[in-house]
Amino acid sequence: MINAKVIGATGYGGLGILEGLLRHPAARVTSLVARQDDTRRIDEFFPHLRGHCDLRVQVAGQEVDDGTPDVVFFATPNGVGMAEARAYLEAGVKVIDYSGDFRFKDPAVYEQWYGAAHTAPDLLAEAVYGLPEFYRAQIAGARLVANPGCFVVAAVLALAPAVKAGLIEPSGIIVDGKSGISGAGKSPKPTFHFPHRNENVEAYRIVEHQHTPEIETYVGDFGGQPVTATFVAHIVPTSRGILDTCYGRLRQDVSAAEAREVYLAAYADEPFVRVSRDGTCHGTGVVLGSNFVDLAVNVNPRTRQLVVTAAVDNLVKGQAGSALQNMNVLFGLPEDQGLERFGLYP
Ligand SMILES: NC(=O)c1ccc[n+]([C@@H]2O[C@H](COP(=O)([O-])OP(=O)(O)OC[C@H]3O[C@@H](n4cnc5c(N)ncnc54)[C@H](OP(=O)(O)O)[C@@H]3O)[C@@H](O)[C@H]2O)c1
Repeated sequence: MINAKVIGATGYGGLGILEGLLRHPAARVTSLVARQDDTRRIDEFFPHLRGHCDLRVQVAGQEVDDGTPDVVFFATPNGVGMAEARAYLEAGVKVIDYSGDFRFKDPAVYEQWYGAAHTAPDLLAEAVYGLPEFYRAQIAGARLVANPGCFVVAAVLALAPAVKAGLIEPSGIIVDGKSGISGAGKSPKPTFHFPHRNENVEAYRIVEHQHTPEIETYVGDFGGQPVTATFVAHIVPTSRGILDTCYGRLRQDVSAAEAREVYLAAYADEPFVRVSRDGTCHGTGVVLGSNFVDLAVNVNPRTRQLVVTAAVDNLVKGQAGSALQNMNVLFGLPEDQGLERFGLYP
């Protein structure tokens, strides 16, 4: 049995991994931690867990000794993992961090886009980017996994095969991302109040979003050459789900059918990537609650653009589902264990 500790257990991503671990035949949840001084049982925070898990949530920094876990999930905001991961790594515990803390090799990139100093730059060299579709072998041998950003999972899977196959120019890529409101986490803010969000679509952090360098880094790494991308994030009035519509300039005449063949071949053996055979985008509705990424590949011959849509559930493949997939890879388990179907909270 894999003993798992979840830090940030009362947030969306903590709940997601808890639900996955409870369903997982080879894992056991040993402790749950959050920040606020609120040590209720987890099924009091989330009543749908009654009968499934009654662990009491512990306050960060005041945890009782509940033994050394095999893996710890930091389902926490930026800055927590980089402050606390080292102690776990030194104790031989594998770490999966959800935040931006370990996604870049160069701490200056983090500091530029996240606006804070990196306090554990020496750990960056060993951190592995947690996208099994491209880094499976590296994850399998890792101690520290940086779970990807939610918009980024979709964008990288949508763009990297085209760059690698030389279908599109490496510069001038555009990613138009739309996310449901849960992308911002559980804490209420004035602009997340229902009357503001309902019937409203907004773009935010236009051309300054912190997922931009992550998209460029990993599309470029897998694609085999540096890329530049303009990324604009939008919030749409849904609870969950992300649709990234990605545009790249074609380098030569390619039909939609030929482009689709590139993607079908690239993901032929991937359990969680589904490529539409006819280019239809079925939207976020069909991936909600699942770890799937749905891709639809199309070509506009008039403007010589490749257009790829990627739909994910931001709380599953965009977050906790990727974390569980990464745990399976880390421990040599079947990659889809515990991921057959997620719950539909919130
Ligand atoms: N939401 C998404 O769609 C999404 C997708 C991909 C990645 N992410 C990333 O995943 C991480 C979690 O996001 P989320 O949306 O799940 O956030 P969330 O709903 O706001 O939950 C955050 C959790 O972290 C806890 N926490 C905060 N500071 C802590 C500390 N110092 N020590 C221990 N626990 C602490 C909070 O506890 P208290 O409530 O007690 O403060 C809460 O349980 C973030 O890094 C986010 O960027 C989010």
